[in-house]
Amino acid sequence: MADLTIPEGGFWPAPEIPQPNIYPMEWHVETEKLAAIYEKSKRELWNPADLPWDGLDPDDFTREQRLGIMYWFAVLANFDASGPAVFARATIQAFEKHEEDPVRKCFFSITRDEMNHEECCQRTIARLWPGGPLDWTPADDLESAAHNNIGWLYHNGGRYWTGYTSAVGRYSLPVLFTSFMMGEMAASTLFRGMSSGTRHPVFSKMFERIGRDEARHLKICMTILENEWPGLTDETRALITRQLRAGFVFLSMILWEPPEGFWELPPYFLNNHRILMDHARQAGLGVLSYDEQAENWRVAMAHIRAIVERWGIAFPAIPELDLEGVPVDFIDPEEIIPVF
Ligand SMILES: [Fe+2]
Ligand SMILES: [Fe+2]
Repeated sequence: MADLTIPEGGFWPAPEIPQPNIYPMEWHVETEKLAAIYEKSKRELWNPADLPWDGLDPDDFTREQRLGIMYWFAVLANFDASGPAVFARATIQAFEKHEEDPVRKCFFSITRDEMNHEECCQRTIARLWPGGPLDWTPADDLESAAHNNIGWLYHNGGRYWTGYTSAVGRYSLPVLFTSFMMGEMAASTLFRGMSSGTRHPVFSKMFERIGRDEARHLKICMTILENEWPGLTDETRALITRQLRAGFVFLSMILWEPPEGFWELPPYFLNNHRILMDHARQAGLGVLSYDEQAENWRVAMAHIRAIVERWGIAFPAIPELDLEGVPVDFIDPEEIIPVF
């Protein structure tokens, strides 16, 4: 064995690494519960390609129904398909801020899951409406209405992304995670409702799997928040109240109908949206009725209210669902940070 080189006066200390930075690497575990959830996420991993796609036959639907289903998945993709990019960025931030190892790993697992959810949108659309969501030429008024609505929807998705990317580094973990928690609560509510409503075996399996993932994402958010909420300042509490309203406004597009306050949409959007959603509904996709959606969303919001009020966080008024609370008026795109 060669002799070690030990400089006179001892080893030279490596320079301090300017922060934020992903280095130095370390794997601290503070929250065992999160580490256990991450293990579970690996065991519950599934492959969208293995769903019984042969059973999804375009000929089983009318043209309007196929368009309606494509439209619903295009709306869903505005949320679920932003998931991989949104959580990939959050994962990088968790590394840079040296969050404990299971937080980083859980973020990564959500990124992985969201990629699967996005793939479900992609595969369904490719099967039923090749070229969808936008790379096709409408042949009549209904198709033009769908194409145009999707364009407007993604215009707002783009505003969300711009806002999210500039806001994600500025918000503290409790603020960020309350928004994430809301998105996951919305997602698990949506897919639970859809899997009970759908009449199609492919969608039934898909929604059940996605719903299970979303319930796990919700658990991750809640576990992180249980660590973060006890140290809240009044200023952060007020910010969270605004975030909750922002989450409602943003997520209502897929859970129910878009309220005033963020969505930039042409005046005819909503009427055409309703007609297209009706076609998806009649196709047996499992889209709940307007009233059922409102009731599910109200129950989910009331659940969130009960959780946050325990920590002294005021709940925003949601007059759309007859939920009382603190009035929150204008919502800036940079306040919209929930993820599915
Ligand atoms: Fe998702
Ligand atoms: Fe999720």
